[in-house]
Formats: sequence, C-alpha cells, structure tokens
Amino acid sequence: MVEHEPLSIKPLSERPHTRHPISLAPMIDKSDRDWRWIMRRITRKTLLYTEMISAPAVLRGKRDKLLAFDPSEKPVVLQLGWDEPESLAESCRIAEDYGYDEVNLNCGCPSDKVQKHDFGACLMARPDHVARLVDAMADATILPVTVKNRIGIRSKKTGVRLEEYSHLHRFIETVSNAGCRKFIVHARIAILEGLSPGENRDVPPLRPEDVYRLKEDFPQLFVEINGGYRTPEEIDAALERTDAVMLGRIALDNPWMLSQADRRWFGSDEPSVTRREVLEAAVPYMIRRTGEGASPGLIIQPLMNLFAGRRGAKAWKRVLTALPSAGPGGFGTAIEQAVRTLDSELLDEKSELG
Ligand SMILES: Cc1cc2nc3c(=O)[nH]c(=O)nc-3n(C[C@H](O)[C@H](O)[C@H](O)COP(=O)(O)O)c2cc1C
Repeated sequence: MVEHEPLSIKPLSERPHTRHPISLAPMIDKSDRDWRWIMRRITRKTLLYTEMISAPAVLRGKRDKLLAFDPSEKPVVLQLGWDEPESLAESCRIAEDYGYDEVNLNCGCPSDKVQKHDFGACLMARPDHVARLVDAMADATILPVTVKNRIGIRSKKTGVRLEEYSHLHRFIETVSNAGCRKFIVHARIAILEGLSPGENRDVPPLRPEDVYRLKEDFPQLFVEINGGYRTPEEIDAALERTDAVMLGRIALDNPWMLSQADRRWFGSDEPSVTRREVLEAAVPYMIRRTGEGASPGLIIQPLMNLFAGRRGAKAWKRVLTALPSAGPGGFGTAIEQAVRTLDSELLDEKSELG
C-alpha cells in the first residue's frame, strides 16, 4: 500500500472559474480550433472546449498543432486526459502559457484506448486519486481546474458497479475537497465493455435527477449538466435545476441553434448574427487556414449543417462536399462561388430562436 501525503483542502473561493450557463462540449475530431472559430462567430459568449488531449501528447506531441488557437475563440477550456499527476501538472502550466481560460480533467471517456491507460471514465472508481490529480493540477496553475464526469460506471470485467447516486455523491465530495468547484456531469453511466464510445452516448439511459440532486446536495459547487439537450425549452428547464448546460451533438447537427444563445442565456442585447455575417467572416478565414496547411476537407465541416432543417440544406452540403476537389488553390474561389448561390432571404434571416 502506497502512503500518500494528506490532501491539502483548498478554500473553495480561491479559484474563480467561469460561470457560463452554456458551453459547447469537448468532442474528439470535432471541436478543433477551426470548428471553435466558426462557432465563435455564431455565439460570442458560450464557453468552448477543446477536444480531449492526453497529457503525454501535450508534453511530447506537436504542441502548436495541438494547442495553438486564435485569441478570438476565447473563452476556451483545454480538456486533458491522463491519470498521473506530474504530467497533468506540467500540461496545466503549458495550457496557461497558451492562454487557455480553464483546464478540465476528463473522467468520462469510456473508449478502449483510454481504458488501457486507466484514465477517462475509469477514474470514477478512484475518487481519492482524482482528488490528487486535481490537487497537483491546481498547484501548477492559476487557471481554474474543473472535472467532467459521468454519473457512474459499470464494468463486467472488473466487476465494478458504481451506478448508485451515493457513489456519485462520494466522488464529488472527495474531488471538491481537493479544490475543484465546477463539475460537468454527463447524466448517464459509462459501460466499460461491450459498447463503443458512440453507443455509450446513447444506450445508458439519461438520469438528470441525479445531477439535480447533486446541485441540491452541493449548492456551493457549480454543477453543469450534459447529455441529450436538443431544444431551447429543454435547456431552460435544466437551468432551473442546475447552473449550466453543456451541449454536444446539437451543435454539430444544428449549429445555428446556438445563434440565439447570447441573447437567450447570457442576457446580451447585441443584435443576433445572420448566416451571411458568419460566412463573410468564415470564408476568408478558411482560405487563410487552408493556405497554412489546414485540410480543406476538415475545415468545411463546421459549415456543413449551417442550414440544417432549412430549404436548400442538402444542396449546400453537396456544394461544400465538392469543394475540396478544387484543390487548395481553387478552394477560395470555389467557396466564394458556393456562397453566392445561396438564397439571400435565408442568408439574412435572424436567429431562429426567440
Ligand atoms: C464526436 C464526439 C467526440 C467526443 N469527444 C469527447 C471528448 O474528447 N471529451 C469528452 O469529455 N467528451 C467527449 N464527447 C462527449 C461529449 O462531450 C458529451 O458528453 C456527449 O456527446 C453528450 O452530450 P450531447 O448529448 O449534448 O451530445 C464526445 C462526443 C462526440 C459526439
């Protein structure tokens, strides 16, 4: 049995974290800098997360490629994954140098690769260890350190069944005693074998009541709920019971849904944007980024569903899909032409949400 130093319990007021009522989730292969840049044109206020990046990748990978971002994307949270305090601590120092606003520890990813290295959702079985990780991270940086976790985990292989609210309560209590004041809780358990990460976002039933209860039991903590939110009305209802809502797939499927976020959830009185304004900003950005080596096939992805649910959505997707074949040289002209074919009523329409 390894002896550990007792944890120093940090006063909760020490580290003010951001208090955004809406955030866009960390999503591997999706929430990269170009996606965030474009989402930032649609919503100026929403908190944005990076994809999960492992601490060894931060320390030994192509750092600028993984971490650099445009300051206009801020506020941005770097999500880290790993299970060992020193490299997480060093990654936090690096995150601070890069200008991130917060760092978040992933305790929710159930992928095989992540399980092999014992981080992500597996960490929910080790609240004391997570407390030590958070402690080391918080000691290394002035940035707030937050945690994203599930409501529980189940593993046939190890026989671990932490599915009851009491385990979640203990996890949050232990980790908050290490100084973490903000938890983003995906309101379903993770099943560690037999389901792909995608299935683990759909198959285990959502249990939002567990997250509401958490907020009641820990009123001093910032408790953000995540999982399955698709409509403004559902989000409004969740905000009655929790501090914030994190949105994932809806932002991929219908990014324009976020165009009223600033007015509806942040109390902004600035006029909402139009798709024309978004595209007018995005096109030169995309041309510049492809010139810098970004892949045309990837950079068009954030715009694919800009017209989701509207007439012309399919045609726009077809046009965008054909763009990368224009090659880096022809990309700029091709995308400018594509935008010219769009219906101006649709382009100038204000946000769909009231
Ligand atoms: C493509 C994709 C990649 C994801 N990658 C991550 C990740 O890197 N880190 C993480 O904590 N969650 C990840 N998630 C989970 C989301 O952050 C979120 O918890 C989940 O999608 C549930 O929210 P939603 O129902 O609003 O999509 C990912 C989800 C998707 C769809």
